[in-house]
Amino acid sequence: MTNFVIETVNLCKYYQNSLTLNNINLQIKPGEFISILGPSGSGKTTLLRILAGLEYACQGQILLDNKDITKLEPYKRPVNMVFQNYALFPHMNVFENIAFGLKIAKKNNKLKIKETVHNALNLVKLSNFDNRYPNQLSGGQQQRVAIARAIVNEPLVLLLDEPLSALDQQIRDEMKDELIYLQKQLNMTFIMVTHDQSDALSLSKRIAVINNGNLEQFANAREIYNEPKTKFIAKFIGNTNLFSATTKNFNNGILTVSYNSDICFDIKRNECNDTSLTVCIRFEKIKITKEASDHLPNLIKAVVVQSQYQGNYTVHLLKVADNLMLKSIDNTCSIYEPETQVWLSVNPDDIFTFGN
Ligand SMILES: Nc1ncnc2c1ncn2[C@@H]1O[C@H](COP(=O)(O)OP(=O)(O)OP(=O)(O)O)[C@@H](O)[C@H]1O
Ligand SMILES: [Mg+2]
Repeated sequence: MTNFVIETVNLCKYYQNSLTLNNINLQIKPGEFISILGPSGSGKTTLLRILAGLEYACQGQILLDNKDITKLEPYKRPVNMVFQNYALFPHMNVFENIAFGLKIAKKNNKLKIKETVHNALNLVKLSNFDNRYPNQLSGGQQQRVAIARAIVNEPLVLLLDEPLSALDQQIRDEMKDELIYLQKQLNMTFIMVTHDQSDALSLSKRIAVINNGNLEQFANAREIYNEPKTKFIAKFIGNTNLFSATTKNFNNGILTVSYNSDICFDIKRNECNDTSLTVCIRFEKIKITKEASDHLPNLIKAVVVQSQYQGNYTVHLLKVADNLMLKSIDNTCSIYEPETQVWLSVNPDDIFTFGN
């Protein structure tokens, strides 16, 4: 027996001979808030639909509370889904939309249904909206009704497909806080699909990154950000400079790589077997100074191409060599005139590499 609420084992899905999901193995504990993050078309919705039973896997297994539900009909699974387009019933008011599942289940009397719907409406902060129809609600309010409808019969797992994508920035931020609150209150397992890295990083403890139907990493948010397992993840999550370099030297845990043989970076590494590498440096890890200082690691001369003011930070585009431009994020909000000569510096701990 495992203590996972949901587990997928080598899950595969083909659509017309094209492999959409390739051997997906996920193990999710009760009460976790998980994000499935990936670019458009990577297979996120397909995975969610398979978990909900709206599609069937071609191979592999889904275990829910240690029971095999791979072939179980959707309405028999204690799993509910909130769809990207909300999918509210347009001819039913808010109360009827939320009560729908409870009435179908035939487990509750009228009074109990009323109480449960009102509790759900309170939770999503929509008390007194019972009589409104979906077309009388804003996008954010419809989203809340969809969530209330999905949690009302207390599923073990709630699946949310891009719950924030149709909302403007302010409502989105409010909704993020509410999702965190809701998940804690209900102590329910949430699996949220998103293509937005900041939603995934801020909402969920663990993130499953999916690319082209492959699960590339499933780890906590900090690990995904600081120790991406693949080049794709390093590029997809965060703002990252990537360039090719050649191994020059490896000594005492410091790997020296060079770009065009004259620009060198020292990188902290346990081992190195590659002669040619892709070097990744996050924008925020590059520090800029006007004066050179011997104390600064990886001190490299650069020329400012432009500084873009963004309110609480600036982004500098720096020319380091003829074909090498790097970007840095500067929280001091300094602005440099184009052509200003500066020094960039980056800690050897803050550079990661992938074999080419
Ligand atoms: N019913 C279907 N028949 C054939 N191909 C499909 C079907 N559903 C999805 N696909 C294909 O499977 C791939 C994954 O689709 P999916 O909807 O899972 O992607 P997604 O990651 O959710 O993308 P998005 O972020 O755009 O919603 C796509 O190439 C899509 O065209
Ligand atoms: Mg999708």
